[in-house]
Amino acid sequence: MIKALILAGGKGARLRPLALHIPKPIVPLANIPFLFFQIDRIKRAEITEIILSLSYQPRKITDIFGDGMKYGVTMRYTHEDLPRGTAGAFKASENLIDDTTVVLNGDILTDTDLLDVIRYHREKKADATIVTARVMNPVGYGLVDAAADGRVTRFTEKPPEDEVTGDTINAGIYILERSVLDRIPSEGAQSFERDLFPSMLADGARIYAYLTHDFWQDIGSPQKYLEASYGIISGRSKMPGYPQKSCPPNNWEKHQVSIDLVSILDGKCVVKTGVAIENSVLGESCRVEEGALIKDSVIWSGTRILPNARIERAIVGRQCHIGEGARLRPGTVLGDKSIVSDFSVI
Ligand code: GDD
Ligand code: MG
Repeated sequence: MIKALILAGGKGARLRPLALHIPKPIVPLANIPFLFFQIDRIKRAEITEIILSLSYQPRKITDIFGDGMKYGVTMRYTHEDLPRGTAGAFKASENLIDDTTVVLNGDILTDTDLLDVIRYHREKKADATIVTARVMNPVGYGLVDAAADGRVTRFTEKPPEDEVTGDTINAGIYILERSVLDRIPSEGAQSFERDLFPSMLADGARIYAYLTHDFWQDIGSPQKYLEASYGIISGRSKMPGYPQKSCPPNNWEKHQVSIDLVSILDGKCVVKTGVAIENSVLGESCRVEEGALIKDSVIWSGTRILPNARIERAIVGRQCHIGEGARLRPGTVLGDKSIVSDFSVI
């Protein structure tokens, strides 16, 4: 039976200070722990057996998903005390794998139809299929070169900027035959990107690229996390069907406020008179006082925004305090419990 393996053991260093107290795979996106988006994508491909490969703060993740029953999947976990790299994590899951496997980086948001990728993989009789995507700025990604028939000719992980040719990147989703496991040593760290794919290509293994035209965005840095949030807010990327959250416009309906139709607000937020919210996400129990403006931003739960504060293109962690008249400029990222004093500009 085809199973999915989600690589969720990274530290999320580039998301700091955001992913300090919460591992990257469960940072809230549109107020939902991120992995729910991936689970939804996997279920749409009729795959219900999911292995989560964990390393960093595993308990915080297992506490949310448990055995997966509540979400209509069977969830199993593997855990590395020392991170074994992406391919090492696949190897560490060997005893749970009996067939072709869909492997996903745990930090990518996509609407790619995995069933179609599996169909393509079979048609090509590939040992491995790599989903690729075209991006505006390919720096900092793995680059994939392929021939006209889709066969991969080169895989280059994060080449230096002046060696970046082409705009087609590794989207972090692979279909792998079980035989690929035999190529990975049982001990130590191994990377798909730096070790396995280049060595498979050198051996003449059949690796194919499936170019996705669907929404694709990773959440590996604050800027990319914001882009993923805009993708959801604008409806360019779909929300998962669960967990269902009711969003009744309760305690802000009666005030004079301006909230655009697309912003996502948890029902437990309190929003006062004269507030304007545009293209933004507000987590549970945020409090926004008179005259504040929140635009193109994501505010995590329990944050308090005092009167006339202005927040634009920023990410604000949990339980922060944004002082009266304070201004957060575009690009600001505040970790949990940050305090911004009245009338300051940061
Ligand atoms: N279990 C486990 N163990 N998981 C790991 C480990 C490990 O040692 N190292 C990384 N991961 C997980 C991360 O949690 C993440 O979900 C995924 O593997 C990829 O690691 P990242 O650290 O996010 O890699 P990246 O973003 O620099 O690059 C990767 O993703 C790009 C697309 O977003 C590469 O696959 C690139 O080639 C690709 O273009
Ligand atoms: Mg990443």
